[in-house]
Amino acid sequence: MPATIVVGLQWGDEGKGKTTDFLAEQTDFVVRYQGGDNAGHTVMLGDEVFKLHLVPSGILYPHIVPVIGPGVVVNPATLIDELDALAARGIDTSRLRASFACHLILPYHRALDVARETRLAGAKVGTTGRGIGPAYEDRAARTGLRLEDLLDARILRMKLDRVLPEKNAVLAALGAEARFEPEPLVEQALAWGRRLAPHLVDVTWLVQDALARGDHVLLEGAQGTLLDLDHGSYPFVTSSSPIAGGACTGGGIGPRQVDEVFGVMKAYATRVGSGPFPTELADDVGLGIAERGREVGTTTGRARRVGWFDAVSARYAVAVNSVSSIMLNKLDILSGVDPIRLCTAYQVDGRRVDAWPSSADLLARATPVYEDFAGWSEPIHAVRSLADLPDAARRYVTALEEYAGAPIVLVSVGPERTQTIERAWRPVRNRVPTVAG
Ligand code: IMP
Repeated sequence: MPATIVVGLQWGDEGKGKTTDFLAEQTDFVVRYQGGDNAGHTVMLGDEVFKLHLVPSGILYPHIVPVIGPGVVVNPATLIDELDALAARGIDTSRLRASFACHLILPYHRALDVARETRLAGAKVGTTGRGIGPAYEDRAARTGLRLEDLLDARILRMKLDRVLPEKNAVLAALGAEARFEPEPLVEQALAWGRRLAPHLVDVTWLVQDALARGDHVLLEGAQGTLLDLDHGSYPFVTSSSPIAGGACTGGGIGPRQVDEVFGVMKAYATRVGSGPFPTELADDVGLGIAERGREVGTTTGRARRVGWFDAVSARYAVAVNSVSSIMLNKLDILSGVDPIRLCTAYQVDGRRVDAWPSSADLLARATPVYEDFAGWSEPIHAVRSLADLPDAARRYVTALEEYAGAPIVLVSVGPERTQTIERAWRPVRNRVPTVAG
């Protein structure tokens, strides 16, 4: 049975946790395929709110095997803390599986991340400071340590002896005070290894066997398309591949094993960290959206920047991910905003630009071309069908769908699972998407 990918179409924080929650019922495996504890998934189950950074949200469902795929960078300390916190709330964490091949985020990666950002000052990326970039750099440089190494003192010692002098030299050059010695790290790593050993497996075969058996595998992305290392607004990106293609490399599947790509987007845009954001709002309308939408970073607690929906980037994200269905989140947050502006193109250096530019420099010079939509004033939390939405809200959703170029099959009108408009989306498997309301 083919796999489903859930991918963010904006700058992360689109509400992918709610989408996974919706698809959970028909899912056997939830596989995280990239990123690390820079992510933040918020899932509401009944009255309880769970904020997860590293553990896939599938952990909250007893019938699902949650899996950390080889494309994820794992900070073992965070993983253990998160497992402990979940266990303390009565969640069975024994089903979690993590790939032997996941690269480790070790304390020197975090120190390097922070030291580099401090040094960049005004030009900083605005990272989460979790060591994501430095860990992925080591993976590419073939000097990284992997989860499997936590089980072998000899390899740990050998790799740390080799890598630490270089890390300490770079830290010194960056003006940072932190230094790292092999032995305390080896001891710490072995303790992590003892604790995590029961969870470690060959994820590629775990997922391949599951697909061969006919189990349904959902691949869950973190961050979003516009933060993708290759396809986002480089260099203001993360160091992994959040796009649907990343699910193949980071999850251990091939493109022909995917039959549904679920794109998730909010009814407006947000961005955390630095980098160009053409539709950014610096006024009370933006502040109001941020407040009502509780737009604060799950991982860093930083205020998210807020802007109007950007159809130029949405069209691009739908294309680059080959999105088959869209979930539109947080439509309710726009109740009371009038007019609602939708960016349909950019003006760059006096020219109209319809395609998302790959250059962050060009994007920084882009001024949005807006189409204005009448707003609606009434709350829409209780609405469960598109036909019952205020006319203005329906017109806005229809416009988003047309500009994005893929059917919106789920519309979220509140944080709870039930606060969702479903449009002919079941069964997801092999469905021919319909845009009829
Ligand atoms: P890093 O992933 O910590 O290296 O940060 C790189 C960029 O990605 C920064 O702009 C971060 O704010 C952004 N970023 C990383 N993770 C998330 C996320 O889960 N949501 C939104 N932005 C993120």
